[in-house]
Amino acid sequence: MASTPSKERQSPLRVDVLTLFPDMFTGFIGNSILNIAQEKQLVDIGLHDIRDYSTDKHRTVDDRPYGGGPGMVMKCEPVFRAVEDVIAKDVRKPRLVLLTPKGRVFHQSLAQQYASEERLILVCGRYEGFDERIHLALDAEELSIGDYVLSGGEAAAMAVIDAVVRLIPGVLGDENSAESDSFSNGLLDYPQYTRPPVFRGMEVPEILLSGHHKKIEEWRKQEAQRRTREKRPDLFSESE
Ligand code: 6GU
Repeated sequence: MASTPSKERQSPLRVDVLTLFPDMFTGFIGNSILNIAQEKQLVDIGLHDIRDYSTDKHRTVDDRPYGGGPGMVMKCEPVFRAVEDVIAKDVRKPRLVLLTPKGRVFHQSLAQQYASEERLILVCGRYEGFDERIHLALDAEELSIGDYVLSGGEAAAMAVIDAVVRLIPGVLGDENSAESDSFSNGLLDYPQYTRPPVFRGMEVPEILLSGHHKKIEEWRKQEAQRRTREKRPDLFSESE
């Protein structure tokens, strides 16, 4: 087997997901990249149903907000019990993340940080959010995946897991593949083409067929910059 000495992890990244809807994750976790990452023991994902930690016979996990208003709020007891139980399953200190639209916005650089952690716990919120004491007492970071509202943190947790797992060395077949992705260098990706050389009259740029690696590299860099300036000027100013 090819060795990738310094980058290889000592142990799999452990990701625990706490959710009211664990079934939403089963298809996702069975998908190819995550499956391969788990088989290679680079990541290890655990699902936990917050409802299993409720303390009453109705298995209540939410309640009406104090002060009135619409919707329901996730109760302290089940979330605290679930988080504490999951933390205690392992001696390593986890990075604890609450998924909520109120959080800091997820970004490639944060994905990179998470990929170098030993342990992540992702807690998915539903309804109108978590009781504020959950944020305060659990010393958790709040994370959003963008400025729009989802009906729960589950889809956001999947986006985060996907972005993180593909950065773990050894997960992607081609070691360089994640490094050349859009955003990893602060720019959008350059345009890609594959066969045929002409499709419905549209030609592949000649330079790509030239076999001139140095020139191709230059062209790609220029195209990445041009695209980023055109489509995402906000990124462009950050990368300068
Ligand atoms: Cl993490 N949760 C919800 N409910 N909505 C979101 C989000 C998270 N990120 C963006 N929108």
